[in-house]
Amino acid sequence: MTSLFQSVPVHPSEITPKHVYLSRRDFIKVAGVLAGSMALAACAPQSLSSDSAPAPADPSLSSKTDELGDPVNSFEDITNYNNYYEFTTDKRGVAQLARDFPTSPWEVEIGGLVRKPGKFGVEDLVKKYPPEERIYRLRCVEAWSMVIPWLGFPLWKLLKDVEPTSDAKYVSFTSIYKPEAMPGQREPWYPWPYREGLRLDEAMHDLTILATGLYGGELPPQNGGGIRLVVPWKYGFKSIKAIVKIELTAEQPPTLWNLIQPNEYGFYANVNPNVDHPRWSQATERRIGEIARRPTLMFNGYAGEVAALYEGMDLRVYY
Ligand code: MTE
Repeated sequence: MTSLFQSVPVHPSEITPKHVYLSRRDFIKVAGVLAGSMALAACAPQSLSSDSAPAPADPSLSSKTDELGDPVNSFEDITNYNNYYEFTTDKRGVAQLARDFPTSPWEVEIGGLVRKPGKFGVEDLVKKYPPEERIYRLRCVEAWSMVIPWLGFPLWKLLKDVEPTSDAKYVSFTSIYKPEAMPGQREPWYPWPYREGLRLDEAMHDLTILATGLYGGELPPQNGGGIRLVVPWKYGFKSIKAIVKIELTAEQPPTLWNLIQPNEYGFYANVNPNVDHPRWSQATERRIGEIARRPTLMFNGYAGEVAALYEGMDLRVYY
């Protein structure tokens, strides 16, 4: 397998504009990351071993397809080939390291520019917003993809209930910070905790879900349990795992990958075969479980639903 870490020269001027978003503490952390010159990197998927995978809650889902007719990936692939840097950068090592990570009970705090802030247990959220099955393609920025049968509810339902104020323009998401249980967080290279963000209209889009399960069962720790975001038309790194905080903001929030390598990982990160990553092409992808590469679709095949969100925007600038 190709090494995850590649030495990437980054000129200090490339991050200068981002300083406005950073507190001094954040900046020091980011500087540390840049010193290490590390980045999410292209990988070469291989076939997966079946040793450690438990059975899916609903095996019959394996015969389902997405709306384009592509079969869902196996439970084994979905739960044993993961990006979760809080544990490890080794995709096949995440499941084992995350095995005992407690995902229940789980609480999410929602605040910022909302009239009704609060703390919500995932069990209560699931009662209030019954999970729907959503079969989505997940396209990683590293140019591999899967089809995953999620269980989740549209984020807009929750956002509507907390009543964003008219100043709210963005939604910021923060993952759990628990270095005693997450060995990757004990490494100094990344500005933990993992953070992501969406524009409010993206967050309110019906395709955007908070996932609480997959394959008819619970959300395994390696896939982001207790609760994670899934935004299917964006590169996978936007779909932040193990969320503990959601904040409505007026300004575009900082995000982990954008802080580390702003020239490689934009805030928008819409899947776009016409805009290459500086170090590799985004024109094609490798579906896990397949040999031949397939063309990458604009907005990961969801252009009909989401292209209007970006009308008039130059997607080479807002990458
Ligand atoms: N969320 C957190 N907190 N930490 C991570 O390292 N990796 C991202 C995203 N969410 C990541 C994360 C990336 S790069 C991808 S491709 C997807 O999770 C992978 O999701 P999966 O392992 O469920 O397929």
